[in-house]
Amino acid sequence: MTVLPAPEPRNLAFSPSFDEETELRLQLIKERILCRSGIVISLGHSSMLLQALYHRAFELRKASIPDYLKWLEHSADERELARLISRVTVHTTSFFRDRNQLDLFASRVLPQLIARHPAEMLRIWSAGCSTGEEPYSIAMLLARMGVRRSRVRLLATDISPNVLHQAEQARYPVAALTGMSEAERALFQVAGEHCTVGKEIRDYVEFHFHNLVTPGYPHQESSPWDVIFCRNVLIYFHPATTRQIVNSLKDCLAEDGYLLLGTGESIFQIADGFQVQSGPSAFIHQKKTPQRAPPPAAPKKRVEPPAPSPQQVPFQRALAEATTWLEQGQAPRCSQAMIPLFLLHADCFELSALLGRAALAQERIDEAVAFFLHAVQIDSLDVLTRFYLAFCFYLQGMDQEAALQLQKVLFLRGDFGLSHYYLGLTSHRLGDLEKAHLAYRNALGILPAHPSSEDRQALAQLTLTLEEAVQACQFRLQQLDPKS
Ligand SMILES: C[S@@+](CC[C@H](N)C(=O)[O-])C[C@H]1O[C@@H](n2cnc3c(N)ncnc32)[C@H](O)[C@@H]1O
Repeated sequence: MTVLPAPEPRNLAFSPSFDEETELRLQLIKERILCRSGIVISLGHSSMLLQALYHRAFELRKASIPDYLKWLEHSADERELARLISRVTVHTTSFFRDRNQLDLFASRVLPQLIARHPAEMLRIWSAGCSTGEEPYSIAMLLARMGVRRSRVRLLATDISPNVLHQAEQARYPVAALTGMSEAERALFQVAGEHCTVGKEIRDYVEFHFHNLVTPGYPHQESSPWDVIFCRNVLIYFHPATTRQIVNSLKDCLAEDGYLLLGTGESIFQIADGFQVQSGPSAFIHQKKTPQRAPPPAAPKKRVEPPAPSPQQVPFQRALAEATTWLEQGQAPRCSQAMIPLFLLHADCFELSALLGRAALAQERIDEAVAFFLHAVQIDSLDVLTRFYLAFCFYLQGMDQEAALQLQKVLFLRGDFGLSHYYLGLTSHRLGDLEKAHLAYRNALGILPAHPSSEDRQALAQLTLTLEEAVQACQFRLQQLDPKS
């Protein structure tokens, strides 16, 4: 029997075009994945799905992806679908990810909860916990604040059994400790290249499988959650799924309970019943307690309005100022000033695009993707923002999705030389050498002599010079065609 060659981590040499029957089976699998997990494969996961199919076909000793798909169609083994879902899910995470938000949680939310329930259990749920760095970071904060294990239920759930297994092991490469304080590092045991979370912190966390898309959320009427972390989970879902999940999360939150989403994940126009609490450079959502109608107000004497606080400085001025900071290379300052304004102005294209660029400049790629996706939903014709989105997908190895976005950019602006170049790179990685060749040639027809205004802006954002871009493009073309 012919068996596929062992897959290499990235550059798989499969042909992405299949016969009609296989395409249909592929479509069915995408739908089964969507129904089961909420993950929309067309939004950035196509190349991940193909890699996953290739790996599973290889592991099960099938001759090809079409063979594997045919087998899968007739297999009643639901665990196989779960394995695929695990492989098409983005699991990126880290300890103390989005520290600003965790600081806000530790300085504002926890003291309030402790004061509100002096003798009761605190109930915290990390939904979509990946390999455990998030719940362990929360446990470390609890320990630092003196909240004992016996006073808290800290549940961590995920749809992927693989990541849950890794989370329970609590063993990470030592690089995971980068950026932590001495006191935080002291909570790990380091042995060689690995570190393990200490038992006193591990004991806080209880891991379980849970799928956010299926009904039946872990809570009881009598003891709803005080805080739910659901960070960087919703970005790849369809808005209708996000709405359903956020409403279910709201239902199992206590009155005045808190929902912490990822930076750039907005529930603007998705769910109401929350109010935003912002800190210096982060925000969190608090469930609003339904208010009784206030008694009719007595007529008031006119009073002078209070002096405007820095938060009320006219938004457009703040936006212009933050744009200048970004252009002067002060991306962290730009993010810190503008992230708190995001929820109030989530419908402002310029703000989302700016926050995406600031995140990209700080190499916070997931966050940049979230802001760029949000921005292109508001203005689908802005070619630069779509180019940045494609560039982020390219950095994440989501080549099919990057290529799709670049084609849309080039449909709108055929003289955007850098888009041709990146289309060349993605096609090159996808093994479509003819397309890569054409794209590099197109880029070289534009960049040296006639770079567009978008090229100049994109080069500045990517901190590349025109000469460097041209040289890189010539080098790639030569790799493909040594005679050129
Ligand atoms: C990018 S990680 C985020 C990890 C962590 N919350 C953070 O912000 O660092 C997203 C996690 O959501 C999980 N996930 C995706 N779809 C899910 C679903 N339907 N139900 C539960 N978890 C899901 C994935 O398996 C993945 O581990």
